[in-house]
Amino acid sequence: MEPLDVLHLREVTDELAATGKRVKVLWQRPESLAFVARGREYRSEFHVNQSDEVTYMIKGTMQLHYRTPDGREQVAVLTEGSTNFMPAGTPHSPRFPPDAYALILERGRRPGEIDRFHWYCERCGGHLHEETFVVDDYTKDPVSQAYKRFFDSIAARTCKACGTVMPAP
Ligand SMILES: [Fe+2]
Repeated sequence: MEPLDVLHLREVTDELAATGKRVKVLWQRPESLAFVARGREYRSEFHVNQSDEVTYMIKGTMQLHYRTPDGREQVAVLTEGSTNFMPAGTPHSPRFPPDAYALILERGRRPGEIDRFHWYCERCGGHLHEETFVVDDYTKDPVSQAYKRFFDSIAARTCKACGTVMPAP
């Protein structure tokens, strides 16, 4: 067995700040995926995946928007140094600024497992758009790819119910 690695979160956040990157994957194993993420100021979608998720706020505050099984939107506020557990399958939208940092712990994706991104209308709450994909490697930054497809399409951003167009960032 190799000696066990020890990672310093401060070094990880310093590296993200210096490079401007959004995500640093710390490890990905079948039963454990860990990454540090900086906030994305334009984040508006809800992510749905089949892994329990633990968030630890290293720096700054996160407004963790989530949707209950009956479709109500709620917000858990994670201040610096706090942590929480979110069960698998909860649609969630972690909103925090680029100078805030969170450690996220999930399990690795199972082969063929599908991640979903849902966008909802900011005016009427209607369902706008879904992106689905298989996350085979988290270092490919699937969030950025899904965002590009959504924001490149005016049709995807236009509410079928009320006609409101979600603005591009
Ligand atoms: Fe709408």
